[in-house]
Amino acid sequence: MSLKIGRNDPCWCGSGKKYKKCHEAFDTRLEQFRQQGAPLLSHELIKKPQDVEKIKEACAVNIAVLDYVQEHIRAGISTQQIDDWVHSETVRRGGTPAPLGYEGFPKSVCTSINEVVCHGIPSEEEILKDGDIINVDVSTIYNGFYADSSRMFMIGEVSPEKQALVQTVKECVEIGISKVQPWTPIGNMGSAVHQHALFHGYQVVREIGGHGVGYEFHEDPWVSYTSEEGSGVIMVPGMMFTIEPMVNMGSAEIRTDEKDGWTVRTKDGLPSAQWEVTVLVTETGCEVICW
Ligand code: MF3
Ligand code: CO
Repeated sequence: MSLKIGRNDPCWCGSGKKYKKCHEAFDTRLEQFRQQGAPLLSHELIKKPQDVEKIKEACAVNIAVLDYVQEHIRAGISTQQIDDWVHSETVRRGGTPAPLGYEGFPKSVCTSINEVVCHGIPSEEEILKDGDIINVDVSTIYNGFYADSSRMFMIGEVSPEKQALVQTVKECVEIGISKVQPWTPIGNMGSAVHQHALFHGYQVVREIGGHGVGYEFHEDPWVSYTSEEGSGVIMVPGMMFTIEPMVNMGSAEIRTDEKDGWTVRTKDGLPSAQWEVTVLVTETGCEVICW
């Protein structure tokens, strides 16, 4: 953004307030970090207030679609059935499923069962059975804005080991949320997520992480959940990103299916779980805008 903005000019954020009464102090603080050599997100990815409202509308659709899946998912249905629900419930609400056609992805949602880490492709042949754990990852485009979140579902009687994995990953996300503080490095969040998983004897996938979201499906920054304290971009109010660690019961090693080019599985075949929320960094912490 241009630093030539006058102090009495309208703020770049579109609030209608004078710059000096709005984001001037924010930009000064950003500039201080920049001069210290801290990594920063590019300014145009900081969400303007009126865009935040639009993105929240996309999130509302995403949440409603996942709520629908949550109410209807059960043993005996196919993952194609979930795809049909997500497609029709999204379109019914005026949205478009973001995955459909994204880099050639053939379906409207990712459905990842047991040892599938992420990017599972819904299929007529794949039937949910008692004891399965499944991640359903929904992403919505609404009026040109993007929302992204995913939830785990446990089908019927699930083993205590898998239940513990699912529960711990949920805690990882909650801990991550609690570590989102403005003007601190994003690595503090990722590190806390990682430590909680390790404490429970699990491993976190390194190669696939989270991302900025809102104006695009996947924006900067790329977000790691195996990061070091003090590393990564500085979180600033108006920044938006996902917290979506993939946590494996066994080793962190993964392998992408060569035939379909999408399905990511654990190398050792042990289960993996993931929950995903989107957060908006605020002046005091963050707001969870999509879950
Ligand atoms: N929804 C996934 C995420 O959380 C991305 C899926 S890409 C797709 O980032 F093409 F597989 F849908
Ligand atoms: Co995501």
